[in-house]
Amino acid sequence: MIIRRPPDIPSSEITPESVYVDRRKFIQAAAAGAAGLAVNPSALAGLQAPTAQSQEIPPRFANMRSEIDEALNSYEAVTTYNNFYEFGTAKEDPARNSGDFNPRPWKVTIGGECNKPGEYDLDDLMSGITMEDRVYRLRCVEAWSMVIPWYGFQLSSLINRVEPTGNANFLMFKTIVRPEEMPGQRQAILNWPYVEGLRMDEAMHPLTILATGVYGMDLPNQNGAPLRLVVPWKYGFKGVKSIVSIDFVERMPLNTWQRQNSVEYGFYANVNPNVSHPRWSQARERRLPSLFKNHPTTMFNGYAEQVQHLYAGMDLERWK
Ligand code: MTE
Repeated sequence: MIIRRPPDIPSSEITPESVYVDRRKFIQAAAAGAAGLAVNPSALAGLQAPTAQSQEIPPRFANMRSEIDEALNSYEAVTTYNNFYEFGTAKEDPARNSGDFNPRPWKVTIGGECNKPGEYDLDDLMSGITMEDRVYRLRCVEAWSMVIPWYGFQLSSLINRVEPTGNANFLMFKTIVRPEEMPGQRQAILNWPYVEGLRMDEAMHPLTILATGVYGMDLPNQNGAPLRLVVPWKYGFKGVKSIVSIDFVERMPLNTWQRQNSVEYGFYANVNPNVSHPRWSQARERRLPSLFKNHPTTMFNGYAEQVQHLYAGMDLERWK
């Protein structure tokens, strides 16, 4: 079991849209578990150990409801139904094939238009940064969705720390390339590394986080350990996993899916029920574990009030 360090900043500083979970109690419970209390088998019922990193599910999450008033998806669903082509293209592949991936120690190279470029150790990068639990919808372009309790920090705190210059209009993120540990990368499924980008104002928005955990525990490999992007008003493919570099750039970067198929995918990828994917409507979504499109999709994935000003005056059909 991995026991995380307690956060550096007290819960009182957590922003209103976050959900505060009593981390101290969780850490005590985790410590008690490590000290010999067996993992509650009912909590793990039906959960195949996805990787060597399998961890105990904190029981208090079992019936937790988020501030968006929708039931959380189970830990099992969040960690066994994934997109992470570095480990294969089927939804169950990342949980099955990511056991050899080693996310620690981890360095992130920060470069481009900023005053403090360099290779940062992840722990140093995070020191002094406020960690928070946040419950967000994840809506994928194939029209499935989940409600996931992430753990992480605002991307803005990292950006402020490395002091972008006036020429930094966009950020470009890259996933690590490690074919020896990532079997999908031994084939040209995508043009590796996986690349994503954000406009600076999107990156600075308080809803945008770099996640290091899920369900109160460190991210399992299949969810993008040790560090992945979560932008809740965008389609899931923007959530680049296992980030190894962040560059501040002047021009809009070309992301992996745009490069793969620019007719179907754009840079912004804002969730929008009115703009169809060329091959299917995006008006409804299938909230896992349902087999049916049982939910109407909402503008900006339900976060319109917080983010629509970022796109005022933009043609959202064109800038899809
Ligand atoms: N990041 C990398 N490096 N490789 C990928 O294949 N898939 C994306 C995104 N991040 C992907 C990635 C897609 S399409 C989705 S929907 C989300 O990860 C899924 O995140 P989850 O598996 O944690 O739910």
